[in-house]
Amino acid sequence: MGNEVSAFAPASVSNVSCGFDIMGFALEGAGDTVTARLSDFPGVRIGKITGCRSPLPAEAAANTAGPPVLALIRECAPGAGVEIDICKGIPVGGGIGSSAASAVAAVVAADALLGTGLTRDRLLEFAIEGEKIASGAVHVDNLSPCLWGGFVLVRGYHPIDIVRIHVPDLLWCSVISPQIEVRTDHARRILPKEIPLRDVITQTGNAAGLIAGMFTGDIPLISRSLEDVIAEPARRHLIPGFGAMKEAALAHGALGCGISGSGPSLFAIASSRPAAVEIAAAMESALKETRVPCTTLVSRVGGNGARIIS
Ligand code: HSE
Repeated sequence: MGNEVSAFAPASVSNVSCGFDIMGFALEGAGDTVTARLSDFPGVRIGKITGCRSPLPAEAAANTAGPPVLALIRECAPGAGVEIDICKGIPVGGGIGSSAASAVAAVVAADALLGTGLTRDRLLEFAIEGEKIASGAVHVDNLSPCLWGGFVLVRGYHPIDIVRIHVPDLLWCSVISPQIEVRTDHARRILPKEIPLRDVITQTGNAAGLIAGMFTGDIPLISRSLEDVIAEPARRHLIPGFGAMKEAALAHGALGCGISGSGPSLFAIASSRPAAVEIAAAMESALKETRVPCTTLVSRVGGNGARIIS
């Protein structure tokens, strides 16, 4: 690689209703781009940040793209200096993996720039350092689909065990992102500390049902399984128009609809692209009542993962 490398990392939907912290899929059509170049100053510096509505931290230690690259340098290229430019294509605090995409694009670009040739598993270990800043917790349900693409199950965290899940061809999704910010650390603090056994059984059954449905292409099973009895009840009040948007999605044939990550974005799964377009329009129209503007994305479920673009 030369003195400058750019990597793109996609937006993602995590949790997927029944898979809190353990499921996620990559989206097409939105993502962050990070350009990394060699610098004479050891460590990481952030150059330009573009594409975001409100300013993001320019200090490397406070931006989700900084610590992953610093950790990579410390372990694999001691003494190296890297400057990164970040071009945001994903709204910050929108629930579609903005912090994960910056962290992933940064480590993928730095790895290519420094010629460290790391596996995706190793890159994930470094990218986690960025997610810790965003949410104060270790969760890889945006980072993993962002790195690998497709639909990913995090089977375990100790150690991290990533399983790639088959996606039936016809699955599409509509993602509506109301233009307000929900902080992931806040959305995690308001979750219940204890879960009744009845809810654990419901959630576990749904998670298993969703994975079985994905592998067998059983659309009614996928639809029945897209239910969240743990995070959604605690978080839905953070999202203007949540009930109206979900009702509109289901009334227009969505297989399921829920909060994308910690919100405020909502995702709805559909069994064709035209259905996803119709559902997106219905959800947008339901949100209009609240006068909160939104952006909309219609994507295949499980787009490509992070990649070098130049
Ligand atoms: N699984 C995480 C959460 C995703 O819901 O808190 C945050 O984007």
